[in-house]
Amino acid sequence: MKRLEGKSALITGSARGIGRAFAEAYVREGAKVAIADINLARAQETALQIGPHAYAVEMDVTQQVSIDAAIETVVKEAGGLDILVNNAALFDLAPIVEITRQSYDRLFSINVAGALFTMQAAAKQMIAQGRGGKIINMASQAGRRGEALVAVYCATKAAVISLTQSAGLDLIKHRINVNAIAPGVVDGEHWDGVDALFAKYENRPRGEKKRLVGAEVPYGRMGTAEDLTGMAIFLASAESDYVVSQTYNVDGGNWMS
Ligand SMILES: NC(=O)c1ccc[n+]([C@@H]2O[C@H](COP(=O)([O-])OP(=O)(O)OC[C@H]3O[C@@H](n4cnc5c(N)ncnc54)[C@H](O)[C@@H]3O)[C@@H](O)[C@H]2O)c1
Repeated sequence: MKRLEGKSALITGSARGIGRAFAEAYVREGAKVAIADINLARAQETALQIGPHAYAVEMDVTQQVSIDAAIETVVKEAGGLDILVNNAALFDLAPIVEITRQSYDRLFSINVAGALFTMQAAAKQMIAQGRGGKIINMASQAGRRGEALVAVYCATKAAVISLTQSAGLDLIKHRINVNAIAPGVVDGEHWDGVDALFAKYENRPRGEKKRLVGAEVPYGRMGTAEDLTGMAIFLASAESDYVVSQTYNVDGGNWMS
């Protein structure tokens, strides 16, 4: 029995990485999935590779008109919206004395405002439909505690955990469940970029930071996007109907809370 049969899902930032793996998993479970990304060409390529139950939507989560247009497209394509995954995010790294306002504004506008206003637009649609819904926000172990070089990104992910708590409490009366996933270190193009930044600021050879963080995970390796799909399916399915405002760590044992 497929757990998301007939459901309509929108996953932001799903042209690659974790969002793409979620899209594949949701399609396997019977959902129709919008691959919504600022990179339309990559989203189209991804949708084509996943198959007829995936379709590309151009979306910039920092622009309200783009958020509204994406929701409208999903409603037209799939007859409604049942599942939103707020997955699009940007990472940056700098010592406190080198953080720029530009980096701060960019990260908060995508990771926090993007998640909040996409959640708001999805919630309006779900409330109008009157059949509940599921909203999953991508947090991070970075939102559980500070990191010396990662102040801004950590703060954005702490904000995502907090928004998940408040939105979950407000929306459960409409039978909309809002929960979050906090991954640890997940291998992929995102972490290639993170590794390059650590190489610069910690004066390391490329690839070393990745090896170190992987070796420190109690499970014994970095995560893969597929390691997260079980939780993503659970939080999108009826099995999680009584789960409200929670953030789940899926991180190989990196963090306990
Ligand atoms: N990879 C990790 O180790 C890790 C760990 C913890 C949390 N996370 C979180 O998981 C989520 C996915 O991570 P990932 O590793 O797949 O990232 P990624 O960088 O590989 O993918 C992010 C996607 O978001 C898209 N995007 C960027 N700006 C956008 C915008 N303004 N509007 C719409 N789309 C936009 C990008 O084009 C890209 O396809 C993020 O929220 C990230 O913070 C990742």
